[in-house]
Amino acid sequence: MDEKSFWKEKIGAALNRALKDLTMDGAVHAEDVIVEIPPKPEMGDLGFPMFPFARKFKRSPPQIAALVVEKIKADPVGGAEAFPLGPYVNVKLDRAQTAARVIDAALNNADDFFNRTSLRGKRIMVEFSSPNTNKPLHLGHLRNDALGESLSRILAVCGAEVRKVCIINDRGIHICKSMLAYKEHGNGETPETARVKSDHYVGAWYVRFSAMEKEDKNAPLRAQELLRKWEAGDGETVALWKKMNEWTVDGMKETYDRTGVSFDAYYFESDTYLRGKEEVLKGLEKGLWVKEADGSIQADLTAENLDKKVLLRKDGTSLYITQDFGTAILRHDDWAFDKLVYVVGSEQRYHFQVLFILLARMGFPWTKDLHHLSYGMVNLPEGKMKSREGTVVDADDLIDQLRDMALAEIKSKDREELVGDAKQTAEKIALGALHYYLLQASPERDMLFDPKESLAFNGNTGPYLQYMGARISSILHKDEAKQLLDCGGAGVQLGLLVSDDEWELVKTIAAYPAAVEAAAREMNPSLLTSYLYELSKRFAHFYHECPVLNADDAALSRARLALCRAVLAVLRAAFNLVCIPFLESM
Ligand code: ARG
Repeated sequence: MDEKSFWKEKIGAALNRALKDLTMDGAVHAEDVIVEIPPKPEMGDLGFPMFPFARKFKRSPPQIAALVVEKIKADPVGGAEAFPLGPYVNVKLDRAQTAARVIDAALNNADDFFNRTSLRGKRIMVEFSSPNTNKPLHLGHLRNDALGESLSRILAVCGAEVRKVCIINDRGIHICKSMLAYKEHGNGETPETARVKSDHYVGAWYVRFSAMEKEDKNAPLRAQELLRKWEAGDGETVALWKKMNEWTVDGMKETYDRTGVSFDAYYFESDTYLRGKEEVLKGLEKGLWVKEADGSIQADLTAENLDKKVLLRKDGTSLYITQDFGTAILRHDDWAFDKLVYVVGSEQRYHFQVLFILLARMGFPWTKDLHHLSYGMVNLPEGKMKSREGTVVDADDLIDQLRDMALAEIKSKDREELVGDAKQTAEKIALGALHYYLLQASPERDMLFDPKESLAFNGNTGPYLQYMGARISSILHKDEAKQLLDCGGAGVQLGLLVSDDEWELVKTIAAYPAAVEAAAREMNPSLLTSYLYELSKRFAHFYHECPVLNADDAALSRARLALCRAVLAVLRAAFNLVCIPFLESM
């Protein structure tokens, strides 16, 4: 348990004992105890306002503070000191004891320290990425993927059983457009013969369709015709559809592999949309929605202050909402979840509002467990980078560019020898830069992605953190460090770590478990990226002020090395949660 939670409980217990002594009714819950950080160091490390308890105690906050301090003094905690400060109870922690306890927990009780339990027993499904198959992944997907993958890892480390899923929207007019262009102009070419990554290849045909459409106003009609043929099961059309979808999905999977994203299950719209139709018809029978004069099936949502919503078209074909309706039901059948989180852009807020209402009308009790984790748009600063089509930025192209920029940086600093495989290192720096930049913005915010800024080695960036990790690794790999550590861990006097910079670093390490739990509770990885930045800055201060290998004596060096090891352990664990690759050297 971290210091804050420990003391909240301690203060809560003291408040209850004081109440009992006064033979007053009621009880105080630890959650109601507020903890603050006092503005000045001489005021101690933690401060607890007593205002919230004035009514219960029928006494003034300073009087309550005095009573609480008396109770704590009767049952002291190590060398910590509690004292009243006006309406507050403040606590000065014992630096030596706290340092010893925290570092020991991070190094020797890693399982408890790093693996939290707040979500133990919960089954959480996280849907993310969920691309269409007419073109490759783009910058927006990279934000989505980073959020979904990171959130899944965070939930899992808090004890949840997590199932990562992706729905591939592989059916509909969009893919038929790529198919039509290819069918009419492809001449049997393939991604292999064209030597193009297969999803990009399909994307190029989608772009080609846009060009065709401008010259030939019948092109959209022919694409519609292709969709009708597909729905009717026409052999040739289905074969083409299969082939092109495979190209896209294979290409996307390469990108997922490259970025460290994975799924426990893929759902395909072409498999689930029929279930959607079926369920819509069931709802129709129950009178939850109606068949209009034109034959379409529509739900009236005016009572919910929304519009009417078409669930099946007049020709019986299904829509985007139809498949989502079926997919949700199918997923719950497949894996009964306690929560399903949809990581999907904010422009689909209305869609999910409608979807959840429709499912609730069907009477599924699990509708209350559905959550749309909505995230904002991500754009590039004007003119920074354009994709081949000049509109959206392909994910692969962006990562290539980041990697090339990182590689140039490594070369310009003559660090190729040092890092081993320079290209591989550059790739990891690129991913660290990308993921950190995308995750440090709160999900709901729109953002600009600035490639150059994301790669800066100095500043609030992924590479800065990676560099910190590499620096600590290199300290620990030095011969002097090894000799010092060889003397055995048992005798390390962690209580020597009491200077201001060491103390700040120790407290930051101690705050890690709470940061992970907050990120899980709020479903917001940016709480972890800012934690990481804070930790790295604290380490930089410490390292600047406190010589590690050349401390005044070997005992202090050993203690500081242990502190370095603890920081490194936290960095590594947190990197993994926000999808930043760790580098031994860079
Ligand atoms: N494929 C959709 C799109 O690109 C996003 C799917 C989101 N997930 C969902 N269950 N509707 O717009």
